[in-house]
Amino acid sequence: MKKQLIITKDGSHSLFVPGLNETYHSKNGAITEAMHVFIRNGLHFNQKQNLNILEIGFGTGLNALLTLENLGNKKVHYTTLEPFPIAEEIYNKLNFHTFTKSDEEFFLSLHNCEWEREIKLSTNFTFFKTNNKLKNFNDGKFDIIYFDAFAPEKQAEMWTKTVFEKMYCLLNENGFLVTYCAKGVVKRTLKSVRFEVESLEGPPGKREMIRANKK
Ligand SMILES: C[S@@+](CC[C@H](N)C(=O)[O-])C[C@H]1O[C@@H](n2cnc3c(N)ncnc32)[C@H](O)[C@@H]1O
Repeated sequence: MKKQLIITKDGSHSLFVPGLNETYHSKNGAITEAMHVFIRNGLHFNQKQNLNILEIGFGTGLNALLTLENLGNKKVHYTTLEPFPIAEEIYNKLNFHTFTKSDEEFFLSLHNCEWEREIKLSTNFTFFKTNNKLKNFNDGKFDIIYFDAFAPEKQAEMWTKTVFEKMYCLLNENGFLVTYCAKGVVKRTLKSVRFEVESLEGPPGKREMIRANKK
């Protein structure tokens, strides 16, 4: 599927998919949104020192980069799923590293590293990237799920009861899923599979986001 590079309001890049009429991030700021939803309300909210994180949709690599940059003294094993990787000519142009401490080479290593293999990218960050679709992925137990699929109206099959049941099973006790989406139907579906759903303040341009807890 064709993807076009766009600049969001905070200056960071995102991708627009004309076939879906959908962007990879909020137009109000890709980095701003990712920091709010996945880092502050995900990574930093979990008090465990050793974290297993699962990301649904590696895409541009932004969430992986920000996680690595904001680890503090936590130790993270990061698993990310991406059945439709973006082309090299696109990821080579992404400007995320200009907003962070990492250099370009380090950011590109997330894209260029081998698939289906555990890689230690720093003392406290182990990375595993798989080409699997969510429906074919069943391995492991996680403390946090970054649920970053395309919106329900664009990719409905990612937001079903069956998918959320699987997310619930893949989480450890007291683990949680975070997502930028705050639709009523998504909250109801999450509750129907036993998640305790919190509606949190959303990033700029969005009233709310969801954190769904497994108690
Ligand atoms: C909204 S984008 C976000 C990507 C990424 N987190 C980022 O920050 O760039 C959704 C991602 O989910 C991926 N995706 C689509 N279908 C999928 C599936 N069945 N399983 C896992 N990921 C999928 C897409 O290719 C895309 O990269």
